[in-house]
Amino acid sequence: MSAVKLMDDIYWVGALDWNIRSFHGYTYSTPRGTTYNSYLILDEKVTLVDGVHAAFAEESFEKIRQIVPLETIDYVIVNHIEPDHSGSIPATMKYCPKAKVFGTAKCKEGLENEYHQQYDFQVVKTGDKISLGKRTLSFIEAPMIHWPDSMFSYCPEAQLLLPNDAFGQHYATSERFDDEVPEFLLLDEAAKYYANILWPFAAVILRKIEEIQKMNIPIKMIAPSHGIIWRQDPMKAVEAYVRWSKNTTQNKIVIAYETMWGATEKMAKQIVEGIMDSGVSVKLYHVPTSDRSQIIADMFDAKGIMIGCSTHDNDILPNMAGFLEFLKGLKPKNRIGCVFGSQGWAGGALKSISDIFTEAGVMIAQPELSVKYSPDEAMLKRCYEYGKSFAQQVKGK
Ligand code: FEO
Repeated sequence: MSAVKLMDDIYWVGALDWNIRSFHGYTYSTPRGTTYNSYLILDEKVTLVDGVHAAFAEESFEKIRQIVPLETIDYVIVNHIEPDHSGSIPATMKYCPKAKVFGTAKCKEGLENEYHQQYDFQVVKTGDKISLGKRTLSFIEAPMIHWPDSMFSYCPEAQLLLPNDAFGQHYATSERFDDEVPEFLLLDEAAKYYANILWPFAAVILRKIEEIQKMNIPIKMIAPSHGIIWRQDPMKAVEAYVRWSKNTTQNKIVIAYETMWGATEKMAKQIVEGIMDSGVSVKLYHVPTSDRSQIIADMFDAKGIMIGCSTHDNDILPNMAGFLEFLKGLKPKNRIGCVFGSQGWAGGALKSISDIFTEAGVMIAQPELSVKYSPDEAMLKRCYEYGKSFAQQVKGK
């Protein structure tokens, strides 16, 4: 694939990673692959904004060479040091040893710790501007969106925002722009990205968007570092981020469960019946065989979260334990939850899960529902009623 023109003298020179199926060390499933977006600005100072994953450095360099000799790059902007964007920076600096690098103070520290090299580095802060010639780049620090080093770059002459991970999606396509792909897929991938990576930083994101709105800067295009570029309606991405950052939820319940001998699964299925008969939307996931990132994406707009788990060695089964550890780290706010499951001669799992809910900030809506060994007809009826009563609480009744 060739470089792609965004507007006069500004090009996408990134790389498509069609085959990646897990990201962040297997914490995020990427069934649609991803892209590493890097941008080249031609001006008196030839400027590269962000790099790509190291394995794709040559692919990106080839695109740059279609436009200018790689060695002519004067400025390298590092909005974020995570290796999917900075991996190609050491190779870039080998070709362009005189290039000046710009980033936050945390970026400088992080780059040095990651690559153990010294560059001609200029630390920038919010409000700092550099002239590229006809154009300017200004910088907006964006700590914890989603790393301490994160930063947005903005070109006022092009009305172009380059926010790195923010507004991105893990979505590899031959198309580069929002008007070229189905909107539901684009928003679905953007929401999954937000849920799995940015959810814990919702309050920070909301404050940052408000800060940028107060700057009154016109934005014609948002070019993130993953996936599709927002040119048709960049405000659609901003509005979605505002909505998601407010932790708004639907009358919807997601049940995640793990079962040893099928008893907890029987309970889960009766609970689902009770919820459905109450007119509340519900999804049921068997954690060991489901895509964790998809469960999280589904929980992202659900008011109710239910966890079902058998007790094993007086505690949570291992797949569920891993799932809950991840969920806890996302700090889900404004959700209610409850817990059910089967045990043998001794329990333990349900209390551990309730404790995790409390730690994560999920409000426990009703007492745990526990069964010894396998549920009988009477217990299955109780499961049905348990689902119904939780559905009523989700509906706020
Ligand atoms: Fe896409 Fe935080 O790296």
